[in-house]
Amino acid sequence: MVPLKRRKTLPSDAGNTVSDSSRHKVPNKFSQVVLFLLERKMGASRRFFLSQLGRNKGFQVEDVFSESVTHVISENNCGTEVRTWLESQGRGQSLRVHLLDVSWYTESMRAGHPVEITHRHKLQEQQISEAEVALFSVSSYACQRRTTLDNHNSNLTILTGVFGVGAKTADRWIREGIYNLEQLRDSGQTLNRAQKAGLEHYDDLNEPVTKAEADAIGEIVQKAVNSVLTGSQVALTGGFRRGKLTGHDVDFLITHPEEGKEVGLMPKVVAWLESQGFLLYQKTTRNSYLESKDGPARPASNMDRFERCFSIFKLTKGKEQESTQPEEQNDLKTKDVLRPHMQADTDQQLCELSKNYQMEAASHKIWRAVRVDLVVSPISQFAFAVLGWTGSKLFERELRRWAGHEKNMSLSSHALFDNTQNKYLRATSEEEIFAYLGLEYIPPSERNA
Ligand code: UTP
Ligand code: MN
Repeated sequence: MVPLKRRKTLPSDAGNTVSDSSRHKVPNKFSQVVLFLLERKMGASRRFFLSQLGRNKGFQVEDVFSESVTHVISENNCGTEVRTWLESQGRGQSLRVHLLDVSWYTESMRAGHPVEITHRHKLQEQQISEAEVALFSVSSYACQRRTTLDNHNSNLTILTGVFGVGAKTADRWIREGIYNLEQLRDSGQTLNRAQKAGLEHYDDLNEPVTKAEADAIGEIVQKAVNSVLTGSQVALTGGFRRGKLTGHDVDFLITHPEEGKEVGLMPKVVAWLESQGFLLYQKTTRNSYLESKDGPARPASNMDRFERCFSIFKLTKGKEQESTQPEEQNDLKTKDVLRPHMQADTDQQLCELSKNYQMEAASHKIWRAVRVDLVVSPISQFAFAVLGWTGSKLFERELRRWAGHEKNMSLSSHALFDNTQNKYLRATSEEEIFAYLGLEYIPPSERNA
């Protein structure tokens, strides 16, 4: 440790501006490794402390970033953020610089030498277009998922591609040495219900949903809703409402023209769908929005608080079968697939046959799994919910930013609040909401920001 007195004499921003080789108490033992700790999110004092720790262990830790730096260490930054910072230093394209998590640094400290760099140490970067880079440089929240330059990050992308698996879980699995689906299957990891469904239907869920499939599901949802409460309405939202031809899921908003009638609707709809065999998975979250209690402030996460059902539908392939219930369409039976020449005499043959059977069954599969989001809204919030759920995500973000910055209003998928007049602005259509916001109406097909 540096004596307190000496530390005090250092300028407070020593981290960024002072090259202070005189502080190297121990000669640099690892000449191939030139470290630089990024102050961003780490903070000046922690950076200073960690830098000194490294120097005392014989590491070359630079105060100022330069051409000679080989390893950039950061904490709580994603690869894209660090890459953007590197770009601002004129080294954006440099592949020679390792972008590493602070865990590599602390482990090296513990080991007394630079430890081997493994996947989990590397910051993962998203491949982003130039336009996105431009956007990123003005707003820090464009940083989303991580993907590395060297293909190792495909691990995380596979794993986070599983329904029910977030970046945090994927990160943990990678730290435990699980890099792909096969390893996940073999690992004996305890999976929750969503992850099990995600793994089971992995291929289907990663295949884009078509507009025809979205419409077929729309008919089923409409039927479900009408069966449990006449007069209920269903609106297709999300990307398909914006005219997209494919999507990663299908989003529906359900309401009833009489306020209050929508209460208790979701469990009934879900029960109907389940009884008809349309659901492979579902998880419903309750409505937690209460205007009188929550007020106009939006939750920080941008998540709305409608009653919502995350589900996986079992959708029959082929138009003519749309209205038929899945159970009635008898999935291929062994007898249909096992041909006369497929007769097993030995265990090995049996095993082969079973494999063949599975392959044939997959190719004949007459249904596919589709992600579907069902959301129930009271009619009084319906216009806001439709606007909020139509997207695109960027369009929504900009709309809310506009409302706040330009109009001193708070917009959510539940309501619009005028902070100047201190009152809610009621609306029954999207057009009215645009008008309140002083914006020209933009139809869904032109909200593909
Ligand atoms: P999606 O994630 O389904 O996006 O959310 P999308 O535009 O339909 O695109 P794909 O084709 O499925 O990938 C639809 C909209 O719903 C809102 C978002 O604003 C998004 O634009 N949304 C989504 C919420 O308001 N809350 C949520 O929890 C999720
Ligand atoms: Mn969607």
